[in-house]
Amino acid sequence: MTDTHPITNSTRTRRAFIKTAGGLAAGAAWCRPETFFRTAHAGHVDETLKVALIGCGGRGTGAAVQALSTDGPVTLWAMADAFGDRLELSLRGMRQGLPKRYDRQKTRSLADRIDVPPERRFVGLDAYRRAIDSGVDVVLIAAPPGFRPQHFEYAVRAGKHVFMEKPLATDAHGVRRILAAAKEAKKRRLKVGVGLQRHHQQSYLDAMQRIRDGALGEIVALRCYWNGGPPAKTPFARARTSSELEYQVRNWYFFDWLSGDHICEQHIHNLDVCNWIMQSHPVSAQGMGGRQVRTGKEYGNIFDHHAVEFTYADGTKMFSQCRQIPGCWRSITEHAHGTKAVADLSNSTCRIHSGDRQLWRSKRWRGKRYVTPYQVEHDVLFDAIRRDKEFNEAEDAAISTMTAILGRLATYSGQQVKWDDAIASEKRLTCDAEDWSARPPLEPDSTGAYPIAIPGVTEVL
Ligand SMILES: NC(=O)c1ccc[n+]([C@@H]2O[C@H](COP(=O)([O-])OP(=O)(O)OC[C@H]3O[C@@H](n4cnc5c(N)ncnc54)[C@H](O)[C@@H]3O)[C@@H](O)[C@H]2O)c1
Repeated sequence: MTDTHPITNSTRTRRAFIKTAGGLAAGAAWCRPETFFRTAHAGHVDETLKVALIGCGGRGTGAAVQALSTDGPVTLWAMADAFGDRLELSLRGMRQGLPKRYDRQKTRSLADRIDVPPERRFVGLDAYRRAIDSGVDVVLIAAPPGFRPQHFEYAVRAGKHVFMEKPLATDAHGVRRILAAAKEAKKRRLKVGVGLQRHHQQSYLDAMQRIRDGALGEIVALRCYWNGGPPAKTPFARARTSSELEYQVRNWYFFDWLSGDHICEQHIHNLDVCNWIMQSHPVSAQGMGGRQVRTGKEYGNIFDHHAVEFTYADGTKMFSQCRQIPGCWRSITEHAHGTKAVADLSNSTCRIHSGDRQLWRSKRWRGKRYVTPYQVEHDVLFDAIRRDKEFNEAEDAAISTMTAILGRLATYSGQQVKWDDAIASEKRLTCDAEDWSARPPLEPDSTGAYPIAIPGVTEVL
């Protein structure tokens, strides 16, 4: 993202945002310079890179497989998860070479690249510290996003290169922490990759190049959607948990403090593409949303649909929808309308057209020629580490995370919310729980139901 997101010339620049947010974060206790004493891995091409995985679920396991599939010697050295059963499942799968669903290309066994004896399998909410401190060079962070700032800060402080999944936070407080840590990582030449993999997908890169070259003319409006079915997450039974905090962490997807709601957790991909096109971020948002179908208390406190109108500094509107309701119109796409042409972008195809006239279409990737962007993002990161190339995707990803948060603040409150107010907000959703005795920031009522945002009533700033 660093080289595909040049400094914007819009009146409201992302640099300006980073400056403001960096200033806001400057007081954060964690970033005192004296705490940064460890040096980054020195980047020898043939040296074995030791990797720790934090958050050993579906995506974390996939990310580990991709890290182990990069060129050069790599060893999975440590694993950390809140729960031992999740960790063991992931390890067993990797040893057997099972998790190939993110990786259509590689099939070889990874067992010879896995060296995680029981003493380097860490379990609990503080397991991340022990994994990061176990002598690794690179940390893969794929726990729920509510814990992302806590994990990223610690990894940077320990002098580690990082791959972390999106979104990077669930509230403005977390975004500011990520930005401050990202700045420090840059200063220390640590490399940071983020799982917004469209930035490593050839069809998107080709489309962006054409848009930069003026294929659309002036952009007048954008639309984007993550309208799909329910996520592949089913509620974990309360009876199988031993505390309220464990219940919520097991069911992290359904709690805004942990997932950011699905507008952050999933729709960030599409909002990020719109920001990429605009080379900027919205300055305000208003929208609506609610829980229409997914209403049971086992679904925590998140909405099942959001529709938001974002406004960029030059007045350009971006219309966004995300819905997790079965049986409805489905689309996971981004669209930019220009004075000369329209771009329709999606995972399967990117194209530019003017009315019925197709001006460009991305290449169809067949069979072995296709390399999944989930693999490319790791290839690029590990190459940057080995060759000590500048690489830090955290700032741009933090802006896209904040864009999604802005949308949620608008749908939860029913108000028009301004970016500057949102990013400065002291309202914090998360807690940095380090053990199971901590109370979660959200409590159920006596029936086990959680407070749900009510537009027009709920205050979000
Ligand atoms: N880039 C993509 O396309 C993509 C796809 C899927 C998921 N993701 C992202 O990856 C992240 C994980 O999603 P997932 O689908 O793998 O979820 P998951 O539930 O399968 O995995 C999350 C894992 O984190 C563990 N965990 C929870 N709290 C923890 C803590 N404090 N410390 C350590 N481990 C903890 C859980 O026990 C679980 O094993 C999310 O941020 C999600 O948005 C990205």
